[in-house]
Amino acid sequence: MTVLVTGGAGYIGSHTVRALVDKGRSVVVLDNLQKGHKQAVKGADLVIGDISNEELVTEIIKKYDVTSVIHFAADSLVEESMMEPRKYYHNNVIKTIKLLDAILKNSINKIVFSSTAAVYGSPKEVPIQENIELKPTNVYGRTKRMIENVLEDYDMAYGLKYIALRYFNAAGACVTGEIGEDHSPESHLIPIILQVALGKRDKLIIYGNDYHTKDGTCIRDYVHVSDLAEAHILALEALEGGKDSTIYNVGNGKGFSVKEIVLEIEKFIGKEIPKEISLRRPGDPDILIASIEKIKKELGWHPKYTLYDIIETAWRWHNSHPQGFEE
Ligand code: UFG
Repeated sequence: MTVLVTGGAGYIGSHTVRALVDKGRSVVVLDNLQKGHKQAVKGADLVIGDISNEELVTEIIKKYDVTSVIHFAADSLVEESMMEPRKYYHNNVIKTIKLLDAILKNSINKIVFSSTAAVYGSPKEVPIQENIELKPTNVYGRTKRMIENVLEDYDMAYGLKYIALRYFNAAGACVTGEIGEDHSPESHLIPIILQVALGKRDKLIIYGNDYHTKDGTCIRDYVHVSDLAEAHILALEALEGGKDSTIYNVGNGKGFSVKEIVLEIEKFIGKEIPKEISLRRPGDPDILIASIEKIKKELGWHPKYTLYDIIETAWRWHNSHPQGFEE
């Protein structure tokens, strides 16, 4: 019984692989290494290749006796998705459909799917519950919503059981310090602030201070990547135990503004971060905070790590790996 993890060399994927291996699970990773890092895969075989290669996926399933899939492999930059929608529809939608073909043909009927809070758009009410109307405001979010629809239809027609996890803002790094966040280019708030602290960037640009929030900067729900990893394991175990298909938010259930994050990091490292207010970044909603009641109740998941833990683990990773994985 092996778990196939697509995109397992990426940020959230590699932390999930690590957590699965720690639980004694047999894991094989399929990653084309366009964004992922070989060195991020610990304790599992890595096959370098594409999820749309049906022959390769079939070969892996047979060779490793794969019985379930956790599907991370995707492009995930909101801004890029607006500039290059073809890339996103191709990589996130068409390739996922090909992957689903291969796994269904090989009689696998369990999949955990990486979805995103970007499917919600800019909801008026927070915390956000899973059953509100989805109104994604960017191509990235639309590709993820499409696959959620595909999964629903494939469940009805072919009995493919799925759990889609809608991530809020993944952050932090493995407590062991071995793996962490290494994106190129980096676009996320916390690693960018840490890069400024390490002298790798001159200053932080805060994208807008005229949002409808208490201090004018956007509020987000930051969830530790190892808590996210744990949510995947619980989702997988639930499917293995016969749970029906469903969707869960995965966040901390708490919101912090950009200014609050900066302040917390300044307190942690004991120095001021050079910063400048600039114009809004297109498509940023004012506030995104998850309701995590459903996943707590149904899977018994709860976030173990605080914002302090996120900052502490991220800082330890960035400080000890200023060049990332150095491949
Ligand atoms: N921000 C800045 N300056 C920066 C980077 C970010 O001010 O240099 C701000 C953003 O405007 C936003 C907040 O910090 O208000 C968080 O930005 P991130 O880029 O870290 O994260 P996002 O909330 O934009 O995006 C995350 C995921 C996406 C996902 C989205 C769901 O990275 O993949 O949440 O809402 F789609």
